[in-house]
Amino acid sequence: MSINMMASILAMTMLLLSVVVCNGGLTGSYIRKPWSVDMPLDSDVYATPSGYNAPQQVHITQGDQEGKAMIVSWVTMDEPGSNEVHYWREGSPDSTLVAEGYHVTYRYFNYASGYIHHCLLKHLEYDTKYYYEVGIGHTVRQFHFMTPPEINPDAPYTFGLMGDLGQTVDSNNTLMHYESNPKKPQAVLFLGDLSYADDHPNHDNVRWDTWGRFTERSVAYQPWIWVTGNHEIDLAPSIGETVPFKPFVHRYPVPHKESGSTEPFWYSIKRASAHIIVLSSYSAYGKYTPQYQWLQAELAKVDRTRTPWLIVLLHAPWYNSYNYHYMEGETMRVQFESWFVNYKVDLVLAGHVHAYERSERISNIKYNIVDGSCRPVKDESAPVYITIGDGGNVEGAADNLTMPQPEYSAYREPSFGHAIFEIKNRTHAFYSWYRNDDDYATQADSMWFFNRYWHPLDDSKTSISQHY
Ligand SMILES: *[C@@H]1O[C@H](CO)[C@@H](O)[C@H](O)[C@H]1NC(C)=O
Ligand SMILES: *[C@@H]1O[C@H](CO)[C@@H](O)[C@H](O)[C@H]1NC(C)=O
Ligand SMILES: *[C@@H]1O[C@H](CO)[C@@H](O)[C@H](O)[C@H]1NC(C)=O
Ligand SMILES: [Fe+2]
Repeated sequence: MSINMMASILAMTMLLLSVVVCNGGLTGSYIRKPWSVDMPLDSDVYATPSGYNAPQQVHITQGDQEGKAMIVSWVTMDEPGSNEVHYWREGSPDSTLVAEGYHVTYRYFNYASGYIHHCLLKHLEYDTKYYYEVGIGHTVRQFHFMTPPEINPDAPYTFGLMGDLGQTVDSNNTLMHYESNPKKPQAVLFLGDLSYADDHPNHDNVRWDTWGRFTERSVAYQPWIWVTGNHEIDLAPSIGETVPFKPFVHRYPVPHKESGSTEPFWYSIKRASAHIIVLSSYSAYGKYTPQYQWLQAELAKVDRTRTPWLIVLLHAPWYNSYNYHYMEGETMRVQFESWFVNYKVDLVLAGHVHAYERSERISNIKYNIVDGSCRPVKDESAPVYITIGDGGNVEGAADNLTMPQPEYSAYREPSFGHAIFEIKNRTHAFYSWYRNDDDYATQADSMWFFNRYWHPLDDSKTSISQHY
C-alpha cells in the first residue's frame, strides 16, 4: 500500500469519526463571533475600474423563461456612454453581435445614481461560452459567461445558494468560499437582502454602488437569480422616499414579464432541469391579489416531465426555529402551503434569518377548526425548507435558538456560509452546506434529495451533518 493511499484512508477514517449521521433534530454547537461592520469605503473590493467613465458594477441575470437570454447590467458614473453590449461565442470573435440596451437613473434623498445600463442578449445558444464587452474606447471591459444546457429532464446543473450577503469581511469570506467551492456552481439562487445600504444613514445609496463593485467578481460571470428581501424595500417617508423598492428595481431587472408576472418581485424561470418560482414576502399575496393569481396559474403550468425539479425561492422562511423574525413567514405559509404539497415542490429556499437551518419534509395544513389542533407532521409530498440567510451581513448572526429544537428542524447552526444544490438527473440531487470557518471542500451538512415527482421515496435518512 502506498503512503498516499494510507494517508487518504487515514483521512477518510478521521472524517467518518467526526461525522454524525442524523435523522433530524441537531443543533450545531459552534457559535461564531456574532458581529462585523461593513468594509471601509477604501477597501480593495470596492476599487473602481480605471479609465474615464469605465463601466462598473457589471452583473448578469437570466433574461427569459428558457435560458436563451441574459440581461447584462452595468453602471457608468461620468456620462451615459454607450448602451451597447458586444458579444460573441467562444472561438468566433469574427462574428461579434451587438445588442442595444437602455439606461436609467434615479435619485434617493441626497443621492444621485450613475447611469445604470441594462441590455438584453437574446437568441443565445445553449451550453455555450460567450464573451461580452461593455464600455467604449479606452474603457472597454471584457467578461464571459456560460449559457445553461437546453431544458431537459435529466440535464445536470449546479446551483449556488446564498442569502443576506451584505458587505462585511464575513460577506467577503462567504463570496470567496463560494467562488472556491470545488463543485464549481454555475448560477446563484440569491435569497434576498443584497447590500444592506438601508442600515446606513439615509439609506446611503453609495452602499448600493459598493455592493455592485464588490460582487462583480462573481455576478459578471454567472447569473444570480434575484429575490426581493426586506432590505430592498428602502421605504423612508421621513426623508421623502415613499416608493418602495426604488434602488433595487432600477439596478436589478428580472425577466418577470416573460412568465406573465406584472411585477418584478414574483416571477419564474426554467434552467436546465429546474423550474424556479420566485415569490415576494413583501408584496400582497392574499386571495385575489396579483401575486396569488399569478402563483395559482404558474403552478398549473409546471411540467415535471420537462423540468422535474420544482424549487421555490422567497425571503421570509415559513419554518424557522430561531428567536428572530418570529412568524413573519406565517401568513404566506397559511396561504400557499397546501399548494406546495399538492404540487409536490421539492425545495423551498429562504433567507432573512441570519443563520442556517434545514427542515424535515413536513406540512402543517390540516388545521382543525373544531379542536384547534395544528402542528407540523411528516409529509412525503412536502418540500424541504432551507434557510440560508447566513451570508454574513452587518446585522450579525442569529444565535438565539428556540429550545427544545422542534421536531421539524433537521439541522440548524448560526454560522455564516453558503450551499450548493447539485442536480444529477431527474431523480437525484445532492445538497451540501459549507460554513466559512471550514476549508472549501468541507460539507458541514448534506442530503441526497429524491425528486418528489419521479422518485418520491423517503430521503430523510440520507443526510449527514458534521458539527463541531
Ligand atoms: C476580500 O476577499 C478577496 C478574495 O479573497 C481578497 O483578495 C480581498 O483582499 C478581501 N478584501 C477584504 C477587504 O477583506
Ligand atoms: C432569546 O429569545 C427569547 C425569546 O424571544 C428571549 O426571551 C431571550 O431573552 C433571548 N435570549 C437572549 C440571550 O437574548
Ligand atoms: C441518477 O443519479 C443518481 C446519483 O448520481 C444515480 O445513482 C442514478 O443511477 C442516476 N439515475 C440514472 C437513471 O442514471
Ligand atoms: Fe431579511
